[in-house]
Amino acid sequence: MNPTLDAHVQKDPRILAVYIEALRRYNEAARAHHNFTHVMRDLHRALLIAEEENPVNYSILIPSVLLHDIGFCTPGFKKEGHDLAGARLAGEMLPPLAYEEKEVSAISHCIRAHKGHAELPQSLEAKILYDADVLEKAGLVFLLFGGKIIGEFEEGLEVFLEREIHHRSKEIARGLFTRKGKELDGGRLEKVLSLFSQIQIEVTQERPDYRVSEQNLWIKGAPSF
Ligand SMILES: [Fe+2]
Ligand SMILES: [Fe+2]
Repeated sequence: MNPTLDAHVQKDPRILAVYIEALRRYNEAARAHHNFTHVMRDLHRALLIAEEENPVNYSILIPSVLLHDIGFCTPGFKKEGHDLAGARLAGEMLPPLAYEEKEVSAISHCIRAHKGHAELPQSLEAKILYDADVLEKAGLVFLLFGGKIIGEFEEGLEVFLEREIHHRSKEIARGLFTRKGKELDGGRLEKVLSLFSQIQIEVTQERPDYRVSEQNLWIKGAPSF
């Protein structure tokens, strides 16, 4: 059966307040990939993973998943990183929604650790969020999502491939933390890494025509009109 939010909201109504505020902010930012739909996929996976973990604090896990990419809704996330920017924003959003200091710090840790750059996941909730989010990239579907990310970040194919290959390699070396996470991955993360590497070889060595821009069609650079 699909895990749902109803019982969790009934038990802790603050979850609904975070949900509403997160939905408003993600919709306002209107990003192509890092949006509320991505968050819902992560939340589904997190609840699925959590079903066989014990004891999970859902008052920490659910807000953490809801806010894990909220950093993308801040103006300065590129400089700071969306993980740190998101943890900072969550620190501002949660106290008015009746979250205590200890809870805010537990949720902030989950958000900071979801990329594994700023810090590694220590708590069970942080490990579940990490796995749920990495699993978004552990499927051939992510090759299609890649196009949306290139558009969202307004970046070149090479920049995208270099970053994603680097991140997939690190995630594979680190490994997933939960049994369910490992099962859902089923070797797909490695498959995605191998395909991205093949695309990188194609673009850099075999088919440089894919990298051609307007500038390449003019001796002294493209004229401006
Ligand atoms: Fe993220
Ligand atoms: Fe994410």
